[in-house]
Amino acid sequence: MTTLRRCDILIIGSGIAGLSFARKVEGQGRVVVLTKKGPSRGSTSLAQGGIAAVMDPADSFERHIADTLDAGAGLCDRDAVEMIVRQGPQRVEELIELGAEFSRDDDGGLDLGREGGHSARRIIHAGDATGREIQRVLIESLSGSRIELHDDSLAYELILGPGPDGRNQCYGAWSVEEGEVVGYLAKVTVLATGGAGKVYLYTSNPEVATGDGIAMAFRAGCRVVNLEFVQFHPTCLYHPLERSFLITEALRGEGARLLNIAGERFMPGYDERAELAPRDIVARAIDAEMKASGAKYVLLDATDLGAEVLAERFPHILSRTRELGYDIVTKPFPVVPAAHYFCGGVASDLHGRASLPRLYALGECAFTGVHGANRLASNSLLEAVAFAHAAADDVGKRLADLEAPPDDYRPLTPPEVREPEEMVTLDHDWDEVRRLMWDYVGIVRSDDRLRQAADRLRILNQHTDTLRQRGFFCRDLIELSNILLIGQLIVQSALLRRESRGLHYNRDCPRRDDATGAKNTVLAQYGYSAFTAES
Ligand code: FAD
Ligand code: SIN
Repeated sequence: MTTLRRCDILIIGSGIAGLSFARKVEGQGRVVVLTKKGPSRGSTSLAQGGIAAVMDPADSFERHIADTLDAGAGLCDRDAVEMIVRQGPQRVEELIELGAEFSRDDDGGLDLGREGGHSARRIIHAGDATGREIQRVLIESLSGSRIELHDDSLAYELILGPGPDGRNQCYGAWSVEEGEVVGYLAKVTVLATGGAGKVYLYTSNPEVATGDGIAMAFRAGCRVVNLEFVQFHPTCLYHPLERSFLITEALRGEGARLLNIAGERFMPGYDERAELAPRDIVARAIDAEMKASGAKYVLLDATDLGAEVLAERFPHILSRTRELGYDIVTKPFPVVPAAHYFCGGVASDLHGRASLPRLYALGECAFTGVHGANRLASNSLLEAVAFAHAAADDVGKRLADLEAPPDDYRPLTPPEVREPEEMVTLDHDWDEVRRLMWDYVGIVRSDDRLRQAADRLRILNQHTDTLRQRGFFCRDLIELSNILLIGQLIVQSALLRRESRGLHYNRDCPRRDDATGAKNTVLAQYGYSAFTAES
């Protein structure tokens, strides 16, 4: 027997995007939030540097807009950028009203940090654990509210139904909960599932970042855009036991310097902004230094900051590195780049609407046009709150006019949960996809490696298809299918872009080509696969 539940608004994901939206639509019917592994286990809780907003009278919206466009290397949507930047101060004030305690300066004003690509100090932060603070207040705001949070609920497929014009529309989603399949039928469904860093072997992202929302949307026929633009954060800690611990860019913002293995500072040789150049430039420079020396890491030297600044501004990093045996107060320590952020995602408009009616996409899983070919540091938390606000406003205006899925609507019967007898082959495929993506579709790409990756991913995909055909269906298999699909979409997008721009660098077409390349890469199934300016 299939369990079907009904609600008005279904939100998939409990990070900054999902919960900011949920708070704003509370009271507009039954609001359900699904989250797959603990409400605070997404990327939001891990955010270190902060949230960018113009809060200093000496700064201006125009400068923040210009910095964002500059980092985006010609591909940002100016309207979307303006929208988030102009909303910034209000959205930050809302977080403060919710109870977020951001770091203050000696006069009690917000302490504004600096990060790469920003021409002014405009990063609002809570020490070096900003995301933890934001996630805390968002979770706390749920208690006493009428929002229903369903934990341990992994949404795996959008439910489609016929719209008035005969086109598909979104009627909700299927989810796996406690070994059972549950269907949620809703008037409006919101994807807020975060990024897909787990596609790569080395990533700053948490376990849940398997690109589920992007995969579900693509399978349902939505357009996905610019998946070749994967941001590699230049500095994750290099340590055998801690492969995903981020070392915030704010540390470089406060003066830390990158050294190669010989102890030489190298960034000024690559870019006049040195350690504060945009991330694509810093990550590629580190990659080049590592390849030249054969070393597995470079060094970050924060010794000039002094013990006091490190303890006060970066307590989280100081204590974690100490636990792992590094004394960053007195010695440079090893860092490496790691997959960090997806600039591409599910195409969504200025209201957060996806190309499938009744579906919205918010936060990192969405492509809004804000980030172009490279995201400016600390703009993603801002994008998530700004678009959550716009989408809540839009849903508020439309909800009363939307019919619920009809009472007699019966979606196709879903599969039953059944694990393969041997998980070892699934584990193997997981490892293989992630290593393949790291080695073949990483910071520096080539046509040959991209084609080899495409071939190998196709074979791995056949294996998961075979398991599905044999009746196996479980969380590991769902997530594996998702990272495989995302890997294929990244490779396909990367092959379509015949130039290098922003985060995408291909040795076989190393130059930016504005005549052919100043366009978004749009993919959709059902025969629609194009390279057009449409978003
Ligand atoms: P997330 O916070 O990742 O939440 C996704 C949610 O969806 C989770 O609750 C997850 O469980 C749920 N979910 C996923 N799949 C499913 C499914 N199938 N079914 C049900 N639930 C599902 N950005 C900044 O602007 N400033 C920073 O300082 C900063 N620092 C960062 C540091 C780190 C280490 C990382 C990893 C990222 C950082 N970023 C930063 C990026 C930023 O944190 C993320 O882009 C942002 O938090 C994404 O928010 P989100 O709500 O879209 O997704
Ligand atoms: C960082 O703190 O370096 C991460 C900031 C970001 O990803 O925006």
